[in-house]
Amino acid sequence: MTNLASMIDLRSDVKSQPTAAMRKAMAEAAVGDDAAGEDPTVAELERRAAEITGKEAAVFVTSGTQGNLVSLLSLTRPGEEMIADEKAHLMHYEGGGCTRIAGLLPRLLPCRQGCLEPAEVADAISQGSTVRGRTGVVVMEDTHNLAGGVAVSPERLRAVAEVAWDAGVRVHLDGARIFNAAVALERPVPDFARWCDTITFCFSKSLGAPAGSVVCGKTEVIQRARVYRRMLGGAMRQAGHLAAAALIALDTMVDRLADDHRRARQIAETLVNLPGVEIDLTLVQTNMVYFRLCRGDISPEQFCEAMRQRGILVSGTEPRRGHFRLVTYHNINDVAVQKVCKALEETLGGAAC
Ligand SMILES: Cc1ncc(COP(=O)(O)O)c(C=O)c1O
Repeated sequence: MTNLASMIDLRSDVKSQPTAAMRKAMAEAAVGDDAAGEDPTVAELERRAAEITGKEAAVFVTSGTQGNLVSLLSLTRPGEEMIADEKAHLMHYEGGGCTRIAGLLPRLLPCRQGCLEPAEVADAISQGSTVRGRTGVVVMEDTHNLAGGVAVSPERLRAVAEVAWDAGVRVHLDGARIFNAAVALERPVPDFARWCDTITFCFSKSLGAPAGSVVCGKTEVIQRARVYRRMLGGAMRQAGHLAAAALIALDTMVDRLADDHRRARQIAETLVNLPGVEIDLTLVQTNMVYFRLCRGDISPEQFCEAMRQRGILVSGTEPRRGHFRLVTYHNINDVAVQKVCKALEETLGGAAC
């Protein structure tokens, strides 16, 4: 088995390792039974998360997937419709929980540079009839992962939210990487979060904590979210150990995200000069670099293997078709990025055929 600790792992920011400060805080955390509301560190994290997003309340959940599902369950009723874009993470990678567990019928609309188009949302909203459920929720994602990690502006979120709210429809924001969006666009998180009823964000991705996400919203919605979290098995006991790392993440890992974005850009600018690489630099706005490898002389598998031989792990969204995604996070420092750029040049340099 490969010794992963010695590799530069660009497969995802979920591979990020907790910092020394996080490990210390986890060891020393004051904890209690959080399922009974007795964990002081979780309570502090939830208070901070609500404050940071500008919402009334927050609940700590196990993962981004659970945060999305708990939000949908809290905002809708089974049989309603859910409007999302066709590239939404919760449609592709979350086990179909929105349909199987929340009982929602997805109405998927085109993904326009990471966001829904307000006019298309207006057109797709249903008020319910004998043949069609009413639209219960509109879902957006920021940053938008499959759209390239693009940062969606508060103004674009607002335009969609206003259409939804005018029609009496709730809005959920999958803000797994909302801090990346906030840093990239130099806007405070509440500018984004005010355009949704619930927002989830993750501590375990670019913020580097080992686990956990949060759902933020109005107090009565978060009360319902606690019931659904319990139903889904997400009410943990001494969860303060995890919350302690998440608090360190909020204190120390947000401002430094600009470094991840700069490093992703550096990798993208190396790739754009290599033959047989298709990449849209305008989409490289945060910590993700999506590109397509179109080479007759090197298959996607050979590319992965050549990078692995150089100590670098890469993977793709559709590797068989040459679609790759490289992701930076705090463990990928400037030295690592130099090695990555050199390895890409050695592997893909030369004439393409
Ligand atoms: C945009 C987005 N939402 C939600 C999730 C799910 O998070 P988790 O893996 O913690 O369930 C991810 C995971 O990468 C994601 O990229």
